[in-house]
Amino acid sequence: MIDADGYFSKQVAERYDDGRGPEFQEEVIGRTVGLLAELAGDGRALEFGVGTGRIALPLARRGVLVHGIDMSRAMVDRMLAKPGGERIGVSIGDFATTSVDIERDGGFSLAYLVFNTIMNLTSQEAQVACFRNAAAHLAPSGCFVVEVLVPELRKIPAGQNFVPFRAGPREWAYTVYDTVPQDATCHYIEITEDGRGEARSIPFRYVWPAELDLMAQLAGLRLRDRWDGWTRRPFTEDSVQHVSVWEKPVS
Ligand SMILES: C[S@@+](CC[C@H](N)C(=O)[O-])C[C@H]1O[C@@H](n2cnc3c(N)ncnc32)[C@H](O)[C@@H]1O
Repeated sequence: MIDADGYFSKQVAERYDDGRGPEFQEEVIGRTVGLLAELAGDGRALEFGVGTGRIALPLARRGVLVHGIDMSRAMVDRMLAKPGGERIGVSIGDFATTSVDIERDGGFSLAYLVFNTIMNLTSQEAQVACFRNAAAHLAPSGCFVVEVLVPELRKIPAGQNFVPFRAGPREWAYTVYDTVPQDATCHYIEITEDGRGEARSIPFRYVWPAELDLMAQLAGLRLRDRWDGWTRRPFTEDSVQHVSVWEKPVS
């Protein structure tokens, strides 16, 4: 498990919503929220790693009751300060182990963990615990949704253990892999306008789709859908990410 308060500090939280990736585009957020709202139906939704509310806030605007778990007070405070923040229930804690209102209304119809955040759990044990925790919160026929990249090991050249993914005149970023524990640590280095250097690293544990299916099975869930992304295109051997949906069977 990472120290989310350290990696998602006040300073990181302040800049988080300026992200330049596709995840911050309105169209992508709209598709994400559309699918999650459909799966939540009339029930309640639980977001693991709710952060600054990138998804929780628009989902709540669609009329879904959303509760979020996050370890970083700084990230959550950003969400609570935004319009509609008061509608999101919040628990500060580790989403692999924190319990929220499990008994109320028979459980949640949806639990979700997006934007590669399952990889913030840096051991297989913690990732398995996270699946068990999601399953414990779900009502029968409720769904657990995970959005995560497919490990990029095919990008590692022979004899090398890192892959650069950003190279500009003032900023560089690369991932260093240790394929035994499935560690992937991302390093970001930036020269700011005033010429100062800034370096930041964050550890991840990458995880395979089939491994996630086994974690789901251990937690009593079964795969319902796996797509290439929020567009619901089929997942193929060329997919670089997946959105997977596991369902809690009606016993
Ligand atoms: C990449 S951000 C994603 C935030 C939000 N879900 C989004 O899609 O924009 C990851 C979030 O997960 C939180 N986090 C990471 N590991 C956690 C853990 N084990 N328990 C609770 N929160 C965690 C971080 O504090 C951060 O807010």
